[in-house]
Amino acid sequence: MPSGQVSYKQIEVEPLTPTIGALVSGVDLTQPVDDALLSEIHTAWMAHLVLFFRAQPMSPDQHLAFGRRFGELHIHPAAPYAQDTPELMVIHTDKDSFRNNGERWHSDVSADEEPPMGSLLHIHQVPSRGGDTSWSNMYAAYEALSPTMQTLLDPLTALHASDYSGQYGDHQPQRESPQANHPVVRTHPVTKQKVLFVNEVFTRRINELSREESRAVLDFLFDHVKNINFQCRFQWEADSVALWDNRCTQHMAVWDYYPESRSGIRVTIRGDRPF
Ligand code: SIN
Repeated sequence: MPSGQVSYKQIEVEPLTPTIGALVSGVDLTQPVDDALLSEIHTAWMAHLVLFFRAQPMSPDQHLAFGRRFGELHIHPAAPYAQDTPELMVIHTDKDSFRNNGERWHSDVSADEEPPMGSLLHIHQVPSRGGDTSWSNMYAAYEALSPTMQTLLDPLTALHASDYSGQYGDHQPQRESPQANHPVVRTHPVTKQKVLFVNEVFTRRINELSREESRAVLDFLFDHVKNINFQCRFQWEADSVALWDNRCTQHMAVWDYYPESRSGIRVTIRGDRPF
């Protein structure tokens, strides 16, 4: 959770809101990130959940290298990729698009058995206005629930499933659309705090409830995570970079710029099985 109390030697960290998001300066992501710098970025990341870096003209190789400083990279089951490299997921919307990637609230590929820990998005081309992305803090979403609701949700599990058929035109999927059962409330492996872990893109049902109960509780939770008090909203510029933690945030990309184009590359960091 944001603390604001940490002092950094190499980077400057300016929170966007008291709840989530911070702008980081004093870093050149076209250069290798050494252990001391990585440690500061990681501390800020755990405190603010999503970090933003401006004016970072990274090459795809530099982007991959920065992502790999956090762990092995994840490959999206179905999305197109750049430069014959499946780890370089293409994020692109233009006048011919019939959908915008990530336009509903979600945590990336939560239907994987081991959903991605983090995502690192480098936007190359922005529309003249619009195309923002919002993130919501899932620690705050859990903490805002009544103790009675927390007690109900704590032991439950939910089925997450994906269906990417038709979503990416004629691009060949990497593998079958995944599905997995995850705790409704997971514990963040670094901060050890509880997080609400259901999202409207991937979560299909709560296993221990009847179909009707599951629908009612999920509808409530999908609405609850969108509370504006849990959110920050970022206005991209060309060469802005965002690093978010999929274990404790959800995000959505606003498609308000049709027929203009918006383009970037996402590198995604593998995670572990939620507990
Ligand atoms: C995504 O990774 O869900 C897309 C986010 C964005 O395009 O801002």
